[in-house]
Amino acid sequence: MKKNNFWKKKNVLITGISGFVGSNLAKNLSNSGANVIGLTQKKNKKYSLLFYEKINKKVKVVYGNITDIKKINKILKINKIEICFHLAAQVEVGQARRKPYETWDSNIRGTYTLLEALRENRKKIKSIIIASSDKAYGEYGLKKMPYKETYPLKPIYPYDTSKACADMIAKSYSSNLFKLPIIITRFSNIYGPGQLNFTALIPDLIRSCILNKTFKMRGDGESVRDYIYINDIIDLYKLLAKKLYKNPKKYSGEIFNAGTNIPHKTKNILKRVFLYRNKNKELKEVIKKMKKNKTSGELSIQYMDYKKLNKYFNWKPKHKFEAVLPKVYQWYENYFKKNK
Ligand SMILES: NC(=O)c1ccc[n+]([C@@H]2O[C@H](COP(=O)([O-])OP(=O)(O)OC[C@H]3O[C@@H](n4cnc5c(N)ncnc54)[C@H](O)[C@@H]3O)[C@@H](O)[C@H]2O)c1
Repeated sequence: MKKNNFWKKKNVLITGISGFVGSNLAKNLSNSGANVIGLTQKKNKKYSLLFYEKINKKVKVVYGNITDIKKINKILKINKIEICFHLAAQVEVGQARRKPYETWDSNIRGTYTLLEALRENRKKIKSIIIASSDKAYGEYGLKKMPYKETYPLKPIYPYDTSKACADMIAKSYSSNLFKLPIIITRFSNIYGPGQLNFTALIPDLIRSCILNKTFKMRGDGESVRDYIYINDIIDLYKLLAKKLYKNPKKYSGEIFNAGTNIPHKTKNILKRVFLYRNKNKELKEVIKKMKKNKTSGELSIQYMDYKKLNKYFNWKPKHKFEAVLPKVYQWYENYFKKNK
């Protein structure tokens, strides 16, 4: 641990701590000396890095719903929270289409409930990071890529709309009316160790290779996405929270996109993962089938750059997909050895 360590003994709340990003952030912050308190609803411990790597032993985990204002108030007061990362959300796009009510409830009501509780505990709060998403922008088409922070949000699908609502509500709480110190993040698809949501492309692909299961592509493979490595995101979250803590007047209300600015066709990600494990025959079969697929309910093209982040903080992502794939793959191999 560094001397002058900003994070030492800081009281930090992470909502959605048992999720992919929350677990990785909790691991990093607890190793940096912060007092980490997390809220989660998750009961299924098998699919959480927090329990799989026993990070839960180093942090305080509270079970409850993000829409429960009494519970959140209590967490903020008892633990004297100064910094909050709001990551809790219903993130499954398909689930959001099938049961939008739950998505609206967790993602929209959950966000304003948390922000109200933070407002009631205003005196202690120094830094709030709200996880929005690239999906909040909606469809802009190839000519308008990469997304810029200034683009109006015009989502249509339920998950995307829920994130856009949360994003705008957060912006309102950062205004002169409420004066909460808030930064809003809109990141592209994140991947890496601990992502155990197998509706996401990369974990699903790697699982198919490891367990020799037939991979079912959701669309025709032509959709374009940007993928950013989890360690880059964790470093960035820490940087943003620290900058905001130290200079709320300068940074509150700011919105930051982050991606790699390297668009990937879904079918190319598929190829890379399969060829990495020499699954040529399986690859041919999947490609043949996926040509007949139609994608619906998802955006066809989206990717991000990090221009604004680079201008403000000289930040850029350090990891490339090709370089980290072996490490990520290895992590899943170990996971599946223990969790068949
Ligand atoms: N993973 C990505 O690619 C990505 C990209 C951009 C933005 N984001 C955003 O980052 C955040 C974290 O994403 P993730 O991949 O870690 O998701 P995840 O699904 O792995 O984790 C979400 C967490 O929220 C919790 N949660 C959900 N509903 C809740 C509720 N009503 N009350 C309390 N807890 C609840 C879950 O139990 C889980 O711990 C989300 O807000 C997501 O929208 C993720």
